[in-house]
Amino acid sequence: MKKHQRLDYRNKLILAPMVRVGTLPMRLLALEMGADIVYTEELIDLKLIKSIRRPNPALGTVDFVDPSDGTIIFRTCPLETSKVVLQMGTSDAARALAVGKLVQCDIAGLDINMGCPKEFSIKGGMGAALLAEPDKAAHILRTLCSQLDIPITCKIRILPDPMDTINLVQKLAATGIAAIGIHARTRDERPQHRPHPDVLRAVASAVDIPIIANGGSREMHTFEDLHKFQELCGADSVMVARAAQLNVSIFRREGVLPIDEVIDKYLRLCINYDNAPHNTKYCVQSILRELQETPRGKRFLQCQTLQQICEIWHLGDYCRRRQQELKDHGNAGRANVIL
Ligand code: FNR
Repeated sequence: MKKHQRLDYRNKLILAPMVRVGTLPMRLLALEMGADIVYTEELIDLKLIKSIRRPNPALGTVDFVDPSDGTIIFRTCPLETSKVVLQMGTSDAARALAVGKLVQCDIAGLDINMGCPKEFSIKGGMGAALLAEPDKAAHILRTLCSQLDIPITCKIRILPDPMDTINLVQKLAATGIAAIGIHARTRDERPQHRPHPDVLRAVASAVDIPIIANGGSREMHTFEDLHKFQELCGADSVMVARAAQLNVSIFRREGVLPIDEVIDKYLRLCINYDNAPHNTKYCVQSILRELQETPRGKRFLQCQTLQQICEIWHLGDYCRRRQQELKDHGNAGRANVIL
């Protein structure tokens, strides 16, 4: 039985699922900045199903670890337990259920990815492949809703025909899901294409479950823009990906922070939670963007360790102290070098 309240998906600012970006430090920073709910990166059922749940007392985290090589597939901590939604890639109800049972004590909600257009997903019958198989998609959701204790959601893309989209959402809503995230683009549209808020508006007026609007980052530069997009879509909540990847302080009601401040906060969390250096580097890189061309940016690109990255943002001592602390605590297992 879960101790905290069941997650409510209305009037929420949500960090979208993003592969490599949505790991623990970024989720915690998004919450600190004002996000109400944070999604993990998409995690594939086949990987999760073989993972072992391992509390990590040194870090205060719960880790789901690949027993074959010790890779951390999912790391979470009590600070986010009531707000974190794990997004799963799956094409199979039984497998999804087994994973749900394994993780449900440590998360607030479980989301099924039904929008990813990448070849890897489609070939495996996951992501946007499920949009073409609504019966299968509904079966997966119904299985999870009826047998797990946490709210279940899915994230889809719109279909080329708005009426088909409404029919699909009505079918999925009937499975018992708590909300639905909708990326306001079709499977074949790319981020540079304009989203279709009018389609979301039509869907929102046709169903009762909360609609989470996604796909508005192109026009999101300030906190106010998040609500503008939500209103434009007539949605109950708004979910942000790329605008948050660039500067996660977009969730901050008081206004966005300079990127050096964001990087400082992000790195502190990476240090505290012993985040993998390659993941840390990827996220900092996506914040820096064209600043990678500056002398400091070029120095950053040479970095091989978390320590080296931290030196650039004057967090070298902090990193050294924490890493020593973790070593003393017997948590020195992680390879600390990129590549
Ligand atoms: C994504 N997106 C994505 N979607 C999803 O359902 N699961 C995922 O793991 C990912 N991974 C991912 C990584 C990165 C780096 C980006 C930029 C995007 C898609 C994302 O959640 C969202 O649907 C789109 O980016 C549109 O929203 P924005 O960017 O306009 O807010």
